[in-house]
Amino acid sequence: MNLENMIHKNLLRWNEITSIHEKSAFYDVAQFKAGACTLKSIELEEVDDVKGKSLLHLQCHFGLDTLSWARLGARVTGIDLSDEAVTLAQSLNDELGLDARFICSDVYKTPAALNHEKFDVVFTSYGVLCWLADIEAWARIISDCLKPGGTFFIAEGHPVENILEWDNEALKVAYPYFDPEPIECSSETSYADRTTKVSNTDTYQWQHSLGSIVCALIDAGLTIESLKEYPFSSYEKYPGYMELCEDGWWRFKSKELNAPLLFSIKATKTK
Ligand SMILES: C[S@@+](CC[C@H](N)C(=O)[O-])C[C@H]1O[C@@H](n2cnc3c(N)ncnc32)[C@H](O)[C@@H]1O
Repeated sequence: MNLENMIHKNLLRWNEITSIHEKSAFYDVAQFKAGACTLKSIELEEVDDVKGKSLLHLQCHFGLDTLSWARLGARVTGIDLSDEAVTLAQSLNDELGLDARFICSDVYKTPAALNHEKFDVVFTSYGVLCWLADIEAWARIISDCLKPGGTFFIAEGHPVENILEWDNEALKVAYPYFDPEPIECSSETSYADRTTKVSNTDTYQWQHSLGSIVCALIDAGLTIESLKEYPFSSYEKYPGYMELCEDGWWRFKSKELNAPLLFSIKATKTK
């Protein structure tokens, strides 16, 4: 299958699960509408005050984080491949009287979709890189979209997390860490609702090592300000093997499973 068809398969899946996510406890849209901020402590602590700044959110899904940045005073633009997600994001924006802008575009076409507009902050988070085939081109897009001196921030599932698979018997290493090839994945449910069945089960995903992500950003002209790894996840990635802690993060129950589950990078456009 060629890349275009793989991306189309992924699009079908994201379009289908957007309405499932809208109704899910995971996303809790009712609480968001009531004023809850969906941003997590990692990005809230690491990204400087966004008040009055222009912020581009790549792969924004249906916009809850984008709109949370808007509530914090940023002038936000969200980009996503899924037209269903973008439509829902725009309708939430309108209902809540915010002034976010949402655009449907493949991440690799972002500069053209935005008429080469430049931003103070480019942000992306939690479940984004596995959908991207070319990490070097992704980093160049970020650099293209930033003003000189602008900030890039990502909080994301750690690539070590992606090589693990679980069943009732065990949590085990099931995928290679270094793998340039697309991975054919199949799942009957979504991470946000593990009971509702989906018909678009098949997707294509990619694994990117931490080193390849960091080097791609440096090669694209960004200076890394911080790189952090975290032993916890934002959700129960491996059911049965994790526990929800008082700080709201999920950790392995077993202290022997001492592996990184998230990372974050803050970088500045210097060139
Ligand atoms: C896991 S979600 C992002 C999650 C987000 N942090 C949230 O919780 O709302 C991944 C998003 O990436 C989008 N996506 C996948 N491939 C893409 C591409 N090539 N270009 C732009 N967006 C893409 C999907 O449509 C989906 O909305």
